Amino acid sequence: MWGGRFAGGPSAIMREINASIPFDKALWRQDIAASKAHVDMLGAQGIVTAEDAALIAQGLDQVAAEYEANGVPENWDLEDIHMTTESRLAELIGPAAGRLHTARSRNDQVATDFRLWVRDAMDQAELGLKQLQVALVSRAGEHTASIMPGFTHLQTAQPVTLGHHLMAYYEMIGRDRSRFADARSRMNRSPLGSAALAGTGFPIDRFRTAEALGFDGPTDNSLDSVSDRDFALDYLMAAAQCSLHLSRLAEEFIIWASQPFGFVTLPDSLSTGSSIMPQKKNPDAAELVRGHSGRIVGCLTALMITMKGLPLAYSKDMQDDKPPVFEAASLLALSIAAMTGMVAEAKFRTDRMRAAAELGYATATDLADWLVRQANIPFREAHHITGSAVKLAESRGIALDQLSIEDLKAIDQRIDDRVYAALSVEASVAARCSHGGTAPDEVRKRVAQARVALGLEEQA
Ligand code: ARG
Repeated sequence: MWGGRFAGGPSAIMREINASIPFDKALWRQDIAASKAHVDMLGAQGIVTAEDAALIAQGLDQVAAEYEANGVPENWDLEDIHMTTESRLAELIGPAAGRLHTARSRNDQVATDFRLWVRDAMDQAELGLKQLQVALVSRAGEHTASIMPGFTHLQTAQPVTLGHHLMAYYEMIGRDRSRFADARSRMNRSPLGSAALAGTGFPIDRFRTAEALGFDGPTDNSLDSVSDRDFALDYLMAAAQCSLHLSRLAEEFIIWASQPFGFVTLPDSLSTGSSIMPQKKNPDAAELVRGHSGRIVGCLTALMITMKGLPLAYSKDMQDDKPPVFEAASLLALSIAAMTGMVAEAKFRTDRMRAAAELGYATATDLADWLVRQANIPFREAHHITGSAVKLAESRGIALDQLSIEDLKAIDQRIDDRVYAALSVEASVAARCSHGGTAPDEVRKRVAQARVALGLEEQA
């Protein structure tokens, strides 16, 4: 393709280090689509004849059909997907193939192909995350009033509802979806026609190719266009942050599935056994989601470091942009699918959750709040009184509401037996009815809103 200037061919090492075809063959659909848009435009602008444009377009369809049927051949001498396709086109249609690359460079070509690929990956992530939200909302709807211990520092803090806990992930995943959508709208401009770096003297129509490829319009600076990989970084940042959420959810399932917790029975379909311990059922899928997030963050780091310090415009370092994006995309898709299955199919052991919520003096705050409300005691003092009650109950190995009224009065004579109604875990969650709180009514309200937002229900 560029032999004219060279006396000798590349060494074996040069061929190997240079070849991106082993991974960029994944761009073949985008490469064909962009070439078809380009040649259609060249024909319409009279830069190539209508006959040549039609011949090239047909030839590209034939190359695509071959790729579809047999895969993309991997010849290192052809370096990348762009040269592989063009060389096959030349074999099929002859010298007219040489006109396809008029007013174009591999620099704007790869920028365009890769953008198209990343745009699809963003759309897929968005779709997969929506399915995960559907699963979360549907399980939350079943458990708006199922009580479990809420934790801070992984220490029992206050009772919450399982529905509320699951809906926390609905919110996180919603932010992930909006990050992908936001990245998509920012990146949706076409670099095609920027050529090598400076634009072209041919009378091309960049608006036409942009529209044909579903872009909102062309990019506005050719140097930026061929050297910009922000769209890939935006994708990886959204993917990395999303993977952190998936990892945290996975971690909850891992803890909940452990025998001392026993809050959840994982679906057999997403667990494995042990080759030596017959009783084991291991949360491997969840552990791998947790593990994959490390790799996805690594992909983000890899591309950030690749891009850092590159002068304008294109440098070959940028060929290394693809493997981390491809790797992150496949790890993310798997992780989303695994967590969707986990949420949809897990059996929540609400009896165990409720029993655990009774432990650890989870309603101590309710006693303090009761003292504030019923006895008009300043919260800090109420906090201190409650601490003494917890200390006493703990020394006897009993729950707060098992302390007799005499015991409680001995701690503070302003306490009377109406306090017991406030000390149950049911009363505790029902009381937390502030906006976004854990009260079953609040959770029901949020679940209903989410169902409308997800299109599962008409607006009431
Ligand atoms: N395979 C290259 C890449 O992925 C295509 C662009 C090559 N451009 C160049 N001037 N060598 O980045």
